[in-house]
Amino acid sequence: MGLCVLEQHAMNRLIITGASSGIGRAIARRFLRDGSLVLNIARRPCPEPGVENLACDLAVPGAVDSLAEPLAEWLAGAARVCLVHNASVMRRDRVDALPSDDLRAVLELNLVAANGLNQLILPRMGEGSSILYIGSTLAEKAVPGVASYVIAKHALAGMMRATCQDLAGRKIHTCMLCPGFTDTEQIRALIGGNDEILAALTSLSTFDRLIEPAEIAETIAFAARTPVLNGALIHANLGQRER
Ligand SMILES: NC(=O)c1ccc[n+]([C@@H]2O[C@H](COP(=O)([O-])OP(=O)(O)OC[C@H]3O[C@@H](n4cnc5c(N)ncnc54)[C@H](OP(=O)(O)O)[C@@H]3O)[C@@H](O)[C@H]2O)c1
Repeated sequence: MGLCVLEQHAMNRLIITGASSGIGRAIARRFLRDGSLVLNIARRPCPEPGVENLACDLAVPGAVDSLAEPLAEWLAGAARVCLVHNASVMRRDRVDALPSDDLRAVLELNLVAANGLNQLILPRMGEGSSILYIGSTLAEKAVPGVASYVIAKHALAGMMRATCQDLAGRKIHTCMLCPGFTDTEQIRALIGGNDEILAALTSLSTFDRLIEPAEIAETIAFAARTPVLNGALIHANLGQRER
């Protein structure tokens, strides 16, 4: 690899929330492979060697403000930045039993923290940068019993579409990638070691299996270098069986 190409690669940066496990960790690994500098923002560090970490509980109001200085330092000299809003939790709750404080905490993590990071990082994003949102099948439809998650993911789709409109002309693109059931801590917690639940979930896929986190990571790497996707909401779910 020539020096010029090396320098160019060193200028590519990935900032990702929630790369301490699951899909986020796989995305961090994928970008490292391409030679990007990678920064994880989560409560726990990313286990991938080479990833830098900023510890932050994104559900705490105002927590993102404390990242202003370290982020500015980390971004010095950056040109192309990919910012991936990935951190999220799925709680079991319902619209008819959803304390507002619980909803507020979920919105803080999924939306307000994402907005805070956009404010800090956007001024440092050059041409070719991207803001990618991790959605869900539940960004466009609802199932019972996960109300706060459905609400947050729908709202995040709105944030992505507003990002596309408001950044027009800056040559920074955005999209939302919506994974189907992916084999991560979050989904394993939902399955709880119960083979019947696992079979029920895999039977919803036209491929009869869970998605590997690396498959989502590959799609995110593609989205980061593909501005024609600007404003798109993309399902990455192996095809879901409709019943
Ligand atoms: N797995 C699936 O089937 C599936 C399907 C559709 C969409 N998704 C979406 O994919 C994304 C990743 O999910 P995953 O399955 O990979 O989940 P995961 O393995 O549980 O990882 C979730 C990540 O979010 C971070 N996070 C959670 N709460 C946080 C907080 N308060 N502050 C900072 N970071 C926090 C966690 O980091 P710390 O715990 O270290 O803070 C962790 O790294 C999420 O947006 C999820 O909604 C997943």
